[in-house]
Amino acid sequence: MAKIKKSAFAKATARRSPLSLYGAAARRRKNNIKARKEKMSRIYMDYGAATPVDSRVLKKLGRFPSEVFGNTMSLHSFGQEAKAALEESRDILADLMGAKPQEIIFTGSATESNNLALKGIAFANKEKGNHIIISPIEHPCVGESAKWLESQGFEITKLKVDQYGLIDPKEVERLIKKETILVSVMHANNEIGTIEPIEEIGKICREKGVYFHTDAAQSLGKIPIDVEKMNIDLLTGSSQKMYGPKGAACLFIREGTKINPILHGGGQEFGLRPSTVNISAIYGFAQASLLCKKEIVKESKRLTQLRDKLIKGVMAKIEGSYLNGHPIKRLSNNANFWFEFIEGESLLIQLDMAGIAGSTGSACSSAKLQPSHVLLAIGLRPQEAHGSLRLTLGRWTTSKEIDRVLKVLPGIISQLREISPFKKN
Ligand SMILES: Cc1ncc(COP(=O)(O)O)c(C=O)c1O
Repeated sequence: MAKIKKSAFAKATARRSPLSLYGAAARRRKNNIKARKEKMSRIYMDYGAATPVDSRVLKKLGRFPSEVFGNTMSLHSFGQEAKAALEESRDILADLMGAKPQEIIFTGSATESNNLALKGIAFANKEKGNHIIISPIEHPCVGESAKWLESQGFEITKLKVDQYGLIDPKEVERLIKKETILVSVMHANNEIGTIEPIEEIGKICREKGVYFHTDAAQSLGKIPIDVEKMNIDLLTGSSQKMYGPKGAACLFIREGTKINPILHGGGQEFGLRPSTVNISAIYGFAQASLLCKKEIVKESKRLTQLRDKLIKGVMAKIEGSYLNGHPIKRLSNNANFWFEFIEGESLLIQLDMAGIAGSTGSACSSAKLQPSHVLLAIGLRPQEAHGSLRLTLGRWTTSKEIDRVLKVLPGIISQLREISPFKKN
């Protein structure tokens, strides 16, 4: 007869009395309550990485995923219902940036939109030229796409930035040549928050007959954007940075732009992004955009005040602290510092233990700690770049939370400096 194996639970509880089991359950309950209380008092200051979905968006979505689920390419009423929601979403996104609905396509992420913008333009226009200009502080999905295009025979030129991360439009003008087909400069930098002069850059590109793409993943919904006024030909926006669901993003493509798809399949999104559309995420993205548009002025003012309180407080309370990025031309929700004799990863861990979630410019890749390319580009030495802290505020950040950060951070910095191997004796 086959032996029946004891279940993991039976094994774990075999030698315990009912009383000790009761004790373990009580301890677990107590720990859960403690964890929940701690969770309630945790402070999230990493809105630049991801935003929670606004409950008003969730309310609008309601039973959407289970009820409006049809394939937008289907001719029956289920499909047509989803198609109507898709077109309504397209109208909303177009309206947010002053575009025409047919100029908006939905993708799955900002990474995908940026890949499509660079690779799609490069291959569709290679008869005209093979030269692309980007900034040195782009998100890796632009930087790495450009690097890959280089391996395919395209010539990539990187612009310079000043100590704040600002591009000089005159340099763009100087670098454009006969073979230039695309300039890609992000609207606002994700690490240091610096806002680039994209209107001027766009104007130069327009005059020279070169396509201009901007990655607005960090700025759409935070800064008013008008693609006409700003002379933009392609623009990337992201739902998950705007209190919408993950899995939806957009690419504005000016009518008449020569661009190839990078995926091949069905004819969705005007043949430029074949895949069954993620209608719930897209509809949520659109609903989130409506809220951003409605609150943009008030929220930007509120966040600017909180950001400046945080920056002033940190600089006043912590010796050897420096602001990264432009003091004024920066995202209303971004504060980025570097601290002397501090290692960013350790700082993040200590802050997390104190219930504060931030991020650092260091990215741990393949077990090698690499300093941020953005911080290096603005002139920080690797050791300085490793000592950075990014705190990004959002819709639920309060003045009290800033007070708590200002109370906790100086102590953590001085403790870490005590044991810092960087510190001179
Ligand atoms: C400016 C910018 N572009 C692109 C991305 C990529 O976004 P995702 O990872 O959602 O594709 C990010 C993400 O942080 C970003 O900040």
